[in-house]
Amino acid sequence: MAGFAAPAIDNIRIAMLGTGGRGRFFIGMFSRMPGVEITAFYDSEPEAVAKAQEELAKAGKKPAREFTGPDGWKKVMDLGDIDLVWIASPWESHTPYSLAAMRSGKHVAVEVPAAVTLEECWDLVNVSEATRRHCYMLENCCYGEVELLTLSLARQGILGELVHAECAYIHDLRPCKLSEDPKASMAWRGAPSMKRNGNLYPTHGLGPVATYMGVNRGDAMDYLVSVSSAEFSLTAAAIEKYGADHAFAKVKWALGDMNTTLIRTFRGRSIMVQHDCSSPRPYSRINLVSGTKGMLADYPLRMALAPDSHNWLSEAELDKLREERMHPLWRRMKERAAEEGGHGGMDYVMAARLVECLRQGTALDIDVYDTALWSAIGPLSEMSVANRGGTVDVPDFTRGEWTRREPLGLVP
Ligand SMILES: NC(=O)c1ccc[n+]([C@@H]2O[C@H](COP(=O)([O-])OP(=O)(O)OC[C@H]3O[C@@H](n4cnc5c(N)ncnc54)[C@H](O)[C@@H]3O)[C@@H](O)[C@H]2O)c1
Repeated sequence: MAGFAAPAIDNIRIAMLGTGGRGRFFIGMFSRMPGVEITAFYDSEPEAVAKAQEELAKAGKKPAREFTGPDGWKKVMDLGDIDLVWIASPWESHTPYSLAAMRSGKHVAVEVPAAVTLEECWDLVNVSEATRRHCYMLENCCYGEVELLTLSLARQGILGELVHAECAYIHDLRPCKLSEDPKASMAWRGAPSMKRNGNLYPTHGLGPVATYMGVNRGDAMDYLVSVSSAEFSLTAAAIEKYGADHAFAKVKWALGDMNTTLIRTFRGRSIMVQHDCSSPRPYSRINLVSGTKGMLADYPLRMALAPDSHNWLSEAELDKLREERMHPLWRRMKERAAEEGGHGGMDYVMAARLVECLRQGTALDIDVYDTALWSAIGPLSEMSVANRGGTVDVPDFTRGEWTRREPLGLVP
């Protein structure tokens, strides 16, 4: 499936699985996007399906076929007139839904992470290869303005040879994890923290960095080590919010507050990926990349370039470089992205780019090997954490194809 391009689809008929916060956001966006039609949805909760219909009605679109209940998703797989299944349900349903969709002849766009076990990662690769269906992970952070700028700088050699990167998903989700309403948006994010310890959500930081470095395309991950802190913050927050006798205050959370995973690539680069969704900290994906000619770091955005690499660029210098080196995709889509929004516009750029590739019948920027590898860092980090930070080999989902591939270029 490396470089795989499916026949062009002029009008993409989408079935949305999971019509909560994320699913409905994209239903709204697609109702305004040419060449796309939402023709069916499924959510385990009838109220969520009803709200999705309201989203279509607001845009003046005809109602979609709707399915609900525990097995309703299976009926979507039987529909013959769906080109793409878009999966925006909680994590543990991602792989089962993706496999069923590909086996029923549909392409897949699946929210992050696409899989929660190593076996699931391999299943995605094997079934995508066997069915020749796309399995695209919706890693919107690859399409953020700064991430696209970093990719543009990397491809134009401004940072030199890339040596090291640091990235993360640091997002204070204590209100979701400690929600007393199990149906509140993202309340389900608490359950994995009760049973897993590692980097549960690696792809937002890692996807962009792996793209800059050409991982799976000229380089590959070799091994990793991973260490988690103990859990402090959720218990403290639960006691403060509800008192020491509340059930949340007595939970034995498996997940440490901060997980730090270090990856070494075959070409000798290092990548640090952190995960912390429990501490009272401002949001950050870090997005730090350092090379032989300079470095860039975000939150806030800074850059230093040789030969004056002891000093950060001034604001004026940074603005000039941002304008001159802006990624062509961002330049082309930024006005519409600003109107549509979604994490600063990156959700729009991701969706519009995916739709463009499917309508033109070209290869996708993120393929099943990226989908599997970036997701696999979750279970691999858990193995290392459970073994006192021991070394864990990273599987090569491309089965050696990475040595023959070129890094993703700058798409026009
Ligand atoms: N890429 C991003 O920036 C980003 C942002 C937020 C969420 N997400 C991902 O999107 C997905 C959905 O998150 P959300 O914020 O919309 O959560 P949400 O809680 O707002 O919505 C989840 C929806 O899924 C439904 N649901 C629960 N179990 C289901 C099942 N087994 N099958 C189908 N539907 C089911 C719920 O009823 C709810 O309507 C998650 O995988 C999450 O990680 C990604």
